[in-house]
Amino acid sequence: MSAHTAPYEPVFVGARKQELDDVLTRYPTKMAALLPALWMVQDARGWISEEAMTEVAAQLDLTAAYVKGVVTFYTMYHQHPVGKHFIQVCTTSPCLCAGADKVVDAFLEHTGCKELGVTSADGKYTVIEVECLGACGFATPVQVNLDYIENVTPDKVPQILAGLK
Ligand code: FES
Repeated sequence: MSAHTAPYEPVFVGARKQELDDVLTRYPTKMAALLPALWMVQDARGWISEEAMTEVAAQLDLTAAYVKGVVTFYTMYHQHPVGKHFIQVCTTSPCLCAGADKVVDAFLEHTGCKELGVTSADGKYTVIEVECLGACGFATPVQVNLDYIENVTPDKVPQILAGLK
């Protein structure tokens, strides 16, 4: 079912609306709760569509343009569907010098993604390059969803993928 043709179903209904209301009690303004509200959307849907941005804006009394500006600023928010395992490889200069480009190539080959940012046909993987993951002494670091893996080399990639549930 295409996300673009299916009617939009609101995220913040029922228990999730209650959860948002609870979150709002912990912030001084509705605007201040924007980041957790966006996480809630991504947790529920896997990504944040334009319709979801509009819904968040309505919930928090913001403009859709403001919400979109925040979503597009932070790379951890997905603006399109991604694979079950979202693989981020640091390719900033120190890691690049240590061979990060070869690690990227290995992930693209072994996941079947073929291209950066393109989800594999089985829906399991999306591979992207990211800026410094803050583990420069452990090149190449890779983040898979919320998990960090350090000292990744191309030969370790098949074993890493085999270990993903
Ligand atoms: S440059 Fe890769 S983790 Fe810092």
